[in-house]
Amino acid sequence: MFNTNFTSNIFSQYFTDEVFGLNELTANEKKLTTSFAAKRLHDFSTGRYCAHRALAAIGYPHAEILTGADNQPVWPEGAVGSISHSGKLTGAIVGLRPHFLSIGIDIETTGKIKPDVWRLIYTPTEQDFLNKFTGEELAFYTTLLFSFKESFYKMQHPLTHTFLEFTDVEVFFNGNIFELTILKDFDAKKALPQTVPLHYHQHNNQVITFCYLGNK
Ligand SMILES: CC(C)(COP(=O)(O)OP(=O)(O)OC[C@H]1O[C@@H](n2cnc3c(N)ncnc32)[C@H](O)[C@@H]1OP(=O)(O)O)[C@@H](O)C(=O)NCCC(=O)NCCS
Repeated sequence: MFNTNFTSNIFSQYFTDEVFGLNELTANEKKLTTSFAAKRLHDFSTGRYCAHRALAAIGYPHAEILTGADNQPVWPEGAVGSISHSGKLTGAIVGLRPHFLSIGIDIETTGKIKPDVWRLIYTPTEQDFLNKFTGEELAFYTTLLFSFKESFYKMQHPLTHTFLEFTDVEVFFNGNIFELTILKDFDAKKALPQTVPLHYHQHNNQVITFCYLGNK
């Protein structure tokens, strides 16, 4: 049983390696699933299960999380958060406004990214960084950089409503932690800081990444 669940009075995360079904959903959440195939249904229900539990821990015991036009979860007034499912592990992170403005989480299984897709995912500078590694380390870092970008996407989208390609952003190691910078220029970019600190946790072959914007 995976257990890194953690709660403070303004922030909560909930993970599970179990799978949950329709019983975990509210009536309106169930209505969103009518066309889902079995795997999508389990991912959606287990994600909502995690998000409900994380929200309950910060003061929302009966929350309903619907889905927006861009597939984003619609959080209850006063809360923000993010959901991810890797097929092996599912998790949600939530926080209270105004302490948190937006949160992104992603979970990936290591080793899925093959060299033929590198140019679509990584900038030339990132490829130089990755080329320093081989074997399991390479599998880890290719997954980590990919996952950082998906976390960032989920965090930035509710604020900018903008689709970004993987190579529109760049992840770098600043000597201490990983950070992300946005290479592309677009109007809504002003809603975001120039660089975003990135966080990760590794559990067996699962990589969990997350980032957030807090209120200054
Ligand atoms: C949206 C996306 C990031 C989801 O990631 P994924 O690895 O496919 O799937 P995950 O299981 O990690 O996450 C799925 C969850 O993301 C959330 N999500 C989907 N679209 C979202 C959006 N626009 N904004 C915020 N969260 C979103 C949902 O909660 C979804 O789960 P649910 O449908 O059960 O609620 C991905 O499919 C995508 O479109 N990526 C392309 C854009 C991108 O990543 N660019 C990188 C550079 S910024």
